[in-house]
Amino acid sequence: MGKAKGKSRGLAYLQQVRPQAVSHLLRFFRESGQHLEPRTRFLISIVTKVINLSPRGLQQYVRRALAEGASPDEIIDAVLCAYPCAGLTKVVDALDVILDMKLPGFEAPGEGGDSTAAEGQAASAEDEWVEVGTREELGEAERLEVNVADRSLAVFEADGEVFVIDGLCPHRSGPLVRGQLQGKTVTCPLHQWQFDLESGVCQDNPGVRVGTYEVRVEDDGRILVKL
Ligand code: FES
Repeated sequence: MGKAKGKSRGLAYLQQVRPQAVSHLLRFFRESGQHLEPRTRFLISIVTKVINLSPRGLQQYVRRALAEGASPDEIIDAVLCAYPCAGLTKVVDALDVILDMKLPGFEAPGEGGDSTAAEGQAASAEDEWVEVGTREELGEAERLEVNVADRSLAVFEADGEVFVIDGLCPHRSGPLVRGQLQGKTVTCPLHQWQFDLESGVCQDNPGVRVGTYEVRVEDDGRILVKL
């Protein structure tokens, strides 16, 4: 039997073979929390999934919360809210699950990511400069999509400067390289969230950011990014 979208195979099977056993429970789930807006509801669900240590449920509600505009910081806060009940081990395990999802905005130390967040810290020995293309390759479109170290990056030239940000929108993974560029602002082609290329901050939702990277352009036009 195929997996029903958004629910476990086990639950779908129970619904099929013992509908009366789960109908009340499912109704309860449908109706509970209806006075909460979806983002808050999904953040609370994250807390419960950390306490229950349910990796699949946790992944599901992290994605849903992000899709409703929750920021990575809010997700981490939700995980930490589980601490008094779940304890440190479950909190750390939950963070491992989230890091394994490789979502924009969640990077483990040493895995590269947002250079702005690293300000004031000593440069890690693991930091490295990686060539991602040349100014010439940016072409008239003034953009380039590259995949480096298992991550998609978008390279833009705006107002004479080169910027590198995560290629996937933190909302629903829209391809930012295909977004409209206006000054130093790129607009996601899927739902039109706008991001500042310098800070990565989402202008529609300041709690959300896309990862930004330190860039160096060599005299010969090569573009290097610090991961
Ligand atoms: S995917 Fe929705 S705004 Fe980018």
